[in-house]
Amino acid sequence: NNYVVIMAGGIGTRFWPFSRKSFPKQFHDVLGTGRTLIQQTADRFEGICPKENIYVVTGEEYKGLTKKQLPFLSDDQILCEPGRRNTAPCIGYASYKIQKQNPEANIVVAPADHIILKEEEFRKRISIALDYASKNDALVTLGIQPTHPNTGYGYIQFAEDEGEVKKVKTFTEKPNLELAKMFIDSGDYTWNAGIFVWSVSSITFAFSKYLPEEADAFNSAQRCFYTADEKTELEAAYSRCRSISIDNGLMEKADNVFVVKSDIGWSDLGTWRSVYENSNLDEESNSIDGNVIAYDSKNCVVKTPKDKLVVLNGLDGYIVSEFDNVLMICKMEDEQKVKQFVADAEEKG
Ligand code: GDD
Ligand code: MG
Repeated sequence: NNYVVIMAGGIGTRFWPFSRKSFPKQFHDVLGTGRTLIQQTADRFEGICPKENIYVVTGEEYKGLTKKQLPFLSDDQILCEPGRRNTAPCIGYASYKIQKQNPEANIVVAPADHIILKEEEFRKRISIALDYASKNDALVTLGIQPTHPNTGYGYIQFAEDEGEVKKVKTFTEKPNLELAKMFIDSGDYTWNAGIFVWSVSSITFAFSKYLPEEADAFNSAQRCFYTADEKTELEAAYSRCRSISIDNGLMEKADNVFVVKSDIGWSDLGTWRSVYENSNLDEESNSIDGNVIAYDSKNCVVKTPKDKLVVLNGLDGYIVSEFDNVLMICKMEDEQKVKQFVADAEEKG
């Protein structure tokens, strides 16, 4: 009864220009391992659920890339959204679809763009969460020991009880820096890994409680799932969905959230810094992927096409990245500005 839903419709804006609308980061082999991020994500569920029970939710425009990179998926296992509405509708669609096939299903929802180094431990934690979620009306998430007040994550305050599955007191999505610092100092918080485990009945019940409009939309579309009318009905459902994340729309509000603390070598490859921190560095602490000659340069992350020679001189702590028709050179400490660059670049055309 175990299912996996891989969310793969994001465009990874903070990782621009390497991650592009036309080729988002989950389809890249970001760390040069020979497998792309989405392939690694599917690989790590080996043994958790059969391949026929892995679903990928993405945009119509990425169907081809998805099929090419995960050839075992049938058409029914690639759920194409008519538009991007953040993670709540993405999870809603997959949940109501799976429910129609198997009302007893237990679902693991996973982002397509993370790395997890300790795969054995990951599978153990997932099994614990699955076991709990199959027996209780519980929304379970994996929690990661935080290392710094990162404002890009959700923060989970948990109750100090004995078991492996801890009751969550509060869930705060992307706090401001001040709040994040307080959370870190207090010690009883973990980061939300963005990996969720629940039964299909618990998640659809939570939708009806906290996202009633979206629940209603998917409920009415459900009778057409797995039929020729699915696309039309889905468009109608999506037109009723707001753009909202599962974290803001549901996890912050629900009172049956639980966390399984997990030491799994987790990293969200969300930003340039995280790529830098997860790659092999040369003697000058540069992370270099490309045809590069570097003089007197250190602490840089460089990702450029192999067929272009790049010469650096005197750079300290810079991101240098070229992909397709864009070259970006940016101080690593300013990486939060990348979203702004993308917006401005889009305007410029
Ligand atoms: N299909 C689909 N459609 N997928 C989407 C969409 C969408 O509209 N939007 C985002 N995704 C996918 C992304 O590709 C990614 O794999 C995953 O959903 C999570 O979205 P992000 O946009 O990367 O979320 P985040 O990183 O800002 O925040 C989430 O993850 C953090 C950990 O990495 C939250 O769950 C945080 O609480 C959490 O700490
Ligand atoms: Mg992310």
